[in-house]
Amino acid sequence: MFNTMTLTKAAGAIIAPLLLIMLVSWGASSLFGVGEGGHGEESAQAYTIPVADAGGDADAAADAGPDFATVYASADAAAGEKGFSKCKACHKIDGSDSIGPHLNGVVGRAVASDAAFAYSDGMKAHATEDPTWTPEALEHFLLNPKAAVKGTKMSFAGLPKVEDRANLIAYLATLQ
Ligand code: HEC
Repeated sequence: MFNTMTLTKAAGAIIAPLLLIMLVSWGASSLFGVGEGGHGEESAQAYTIPVADAGGDADAAADAGPDFATVYASADAAAGEKGFSKCKACHKIDGSDSIGPHLNGVVGRAVASDAAFAYSDGMKAHATEDPTWTPEALEHFLLNPKAAVKGTKMSFAGLPKVEDRANLIAYLATLQ
C-alpha cells in the first residue's frame, strides 16, 4: 500500500511535467509557424507582387540611348495606350479618382492639383519645387517615381525605357 502510493506519486511527478513540456512546445511551435508563414505571405502579396506586375526594375538606371526630346518628337501614342495598362490599377482617365488621382489632362496640369485627391506630403512639397507636369517633368517622374518625388505614395517601380515613357506621355497628352 505504502509502496504503491509512493510509486504512483513518483510516476505522476515525472509524467505530469513531461506532458506539460510537450504541450507547451507543441503549442509554441504551431503558433510560431503560423505567425511567421502568415506574415511572409501577407507582405509578399500586398506589396511585392503588384509592384512587380506594375512593371519595371526597381534599380532601373537612365538609358544611355537617345535623349527624351528626340524620342518624344516621334513618340507613338497608340503604343503608349498599351503601356497605360501598367497604370490602370491605380489611375482612371474619366475624371474620377481611384488609388491615384485621375490622369486625363495631366500633361500640362499643375502638380498635386486634383482637389478631390489626398496627395502625400512629398507630392505637395514637390509642387512647390516643380509646379507643372510638363512632358519632361513626367518623364523624370516615371523613370523612378520614388527618386523623383521623395515621399510619394505612388508605389510604382518606374519605366526604365525612354521609348516607353515617351509613348506613354504622348498617349496621356491625348486625354483631356
Ligand atoms: C500602385 C498604384 C499606382 C500605379 C501602378 C501608378 N500610380 Fe501614379 N499615382 C499613384 C498615387 C497613390 C499617386 C499620388 C501620389 C502622392 O500623392 O504622392 C499617383 C500620382 C501620379 C501622378 C501625379 C498626378 C498629380 O495630380 O499630381 C502622375 C502623373 C502619375 N501618378 C502617373 C502614373 C502613370 C503614368 C502610371 C503608369 C506608368 C502610374 N502613375 C502608375 C498610384 C499609382
